[in-house]
Amino acid sequence: MHLGVCYYPEHWPRERWETDARMMAEAGLSRVRIGEFAWSRIEPEPGEFDWQWLDDAVEVLHDAGLDIIMGTPTATPPKWLVDQMPDMVALDAHGRPRGFGSRRHYCFSHAGYGQEAARITRAMAQRYGQNPAIVCWQTDNEYGCHDTVQSFSDAAREAFRLWLKQRYSAIKALNTAWGNVFWSMEYRSFAEVELPNLTVTEANPAHWLAFRRFSSDQVVAFNRAQVDILREHSPGRDITHNAMGFYTGYDHHDLAGDIDILGWDSYPLGFLEQFRFSPQDKLNYARQGHPDIAAFHHDLYRGCARDERWSVLEQQPGPVNWARHNPAPLPGMVALWTLEAAAHGAELVSYFRWRQAPFAQEQMHAGLLRPDGVPAPALAEAKDVAFKLKTLGSKGETCRDVALVFDYPAEWMTQIQPQGEGLSALWAVFDCYGALRRLGLNVDIVPQRADLSQYSLVVVPCLPIVSEAFAQRLTEFDGEIIVGPRSGSRDQDFCIPDNLAPGPLTELLDLTVTRSESLPLGLEHAGDGWAIARWLDHVEGKAAPELTAQDGLVACWRHGKARYLATWPQGEVLDEVIARACRDAGIATVPMPKGLRIRRTSNYWFVFNYSASEITLPETIEGEVVIGLRTMPPAGVTVLAR
Ligand code: GAL
Repeated sequence: MHLGVCYYPEHWPRERWETDARMMAEAGLSRVRIGEFAWSRIEPEPGEFDWQWLDDAVEVLHDAGLDIIMGTPTATPPKWLVDQMPDMVALDAHGRPRGFGSRRHYCFSHAGYGQEAARITRAMAQRYGQNPAIVCWQTDNEYGCHDTVQSFSDAAREAFRLWLKQRYSAIKALNTAWGNVFWSMEYRSFAEVELPNLTVTEANPAHWLAFRRFSSDQVVAFNRAQVDILREHSPGRDITHNAMGFYTGYDHHDLAGDIDILGWDSYPLGFLEQFRFSPQDKLNYARQGHPDIAAFHHDLYRGCARDERWSVLEQQPGPVNWARHNPAPLPGMVALWTLEAAAHGAELVSYFRWRQAPFAQEQMHAGLLRPDGVPAPALAEAKDVAFKLKTLGSKGETCRDVALVFDYPAEWMTQIQPQGEGLSALWAVFDCYGALRRLGLNVDIVPQRADLSQYSLVVVPCLPIVSEAFAQRLTEFDGEIIVGPRSGSRDQDFCIPDNLAPGPLTELLDLTVTRSESLPLGLEHAGDGWAIARWLDHVEGKAAPELTAQDGLVACWRHGKARYLATWPQGEVLDEVIARACRDAGIATVPMPKGLRIRRTSNYWFVFNYSASEITLPETIEGEVVIGLRTMPPAGVTVLAR
């Protein structure tokens, strides 16, 4: 695994660059990402390019032994461009323009901006495509950041109509598929279809789902246009893009299909603060991040990526500036996060950013250096990791226990029609992931099309739209299967299937969901150490009840090797069902002390202490200690040879 850093030479005096490059190399970094926000310096006037400074920066960095990841600067179109075509900005759901003065101020459907993005990409690719310093390209920056995938502009409306026409051919087919007879929503032509915002009450969920799919396809197409140019002018270089945490605005499986390496930006403390963790977890893990946040995304994006090639393109090095509260990580955490990425198979961890900026929006965001250029605490941790990675050498093969199935339309569906507060497919997957990891298991988060043959257990937490092919593969799979609520409950156009849920999974499970209810907080049906909470599917069929609550309601059904969890996958009921499935699948589990997590490769056990106290390794984790101690300090990492 390489270590790298995100660097903005345009922010610093020219005389400083050699020092920075030397310090990077001395710290053990070998990659540097540059360029992704530099459009106004590359092309200060329309059509007038200033390459000198960037040529120079590339040379200085490469001379110091660093390989370069070059970003296309399309996330930050310059002011002159926005003034040339003011309608290139996106409109938000209220119809307001998202103006100049920060970043990501463009609409994916604006053809003129598409041409400009292609033009600047081509100019950069022609300039640096064959330069030996450039080993990788990053397209744009964080598609969707600041809620920028959906646009409700005229350009988006036109493009949406075209997209619909391609998908449905005839407007009657669309009306039928969406059920537009309901509330007289029928259209006479594609030209009549509006965007789903600004309706009086909720728009047809099928309309929203189509718009989500369309918006995702626009991102993928925008990205592909850059990829095609880069492949033409810079053959043999990898292409990457940086995805975000807990973000589902576009289909990452689709986007990843076009690039070589899927990157993601890991800010565990920011994510803990911003997302739906309990107040207790927010406190317990304030300086470490919840123990499943980083690993969840490693395993998710590895599963999205072509050939499982993925990396961390931005790694939090200290306090960030954008969460509600921005504490500093415990000493050791930056090293822990980096080694955990290595354990999960990253090709690169790149710290964001080299030096804290004394100006503009991110002044309060830490770097490896302080604003005055003096090392911040994370620099020493990066050095330490570089040394440890050398000591470890090859990690060996990936070990596979459990396939956890997720896809983006599942999350879109539960966002569009949650039916109960907070019932999200993504978070159901996260909770299942945590439950599996607390048993010490290796988890791969995979799409429906994944090859399941290497796993002993497949978990499908909440997958409303199930393909026939996936249903077929599950029927043929010979390990244990857990299927969660809402799975198979919708067709491609958001309608209930004729045979009701679980639709295509009916044969596998031998049951029919006859009624579904969501349950308010506190309305629970107690079982033996577990409870039915938040959701309950009532079921008919030949499947046998396996977990029955004290009042006779059934939480889990069993048919052959498959289980149907009729309540929301969370808490003790989830732990119970997973424990049973692991037992039946013959999977050896290693229950984790609170805050400890492990990852197994064929050569090593990697153990990570996310708690704020010392923990002694359970005896079941055997092997010679190569790094760290069996009694682990807070933020400690121990590696044992297997
Ligand atoms: C990311 C972004 C970076 C920087 C960073 C701050 O979302 O890609 O450019 O803004 O956050 O944490």
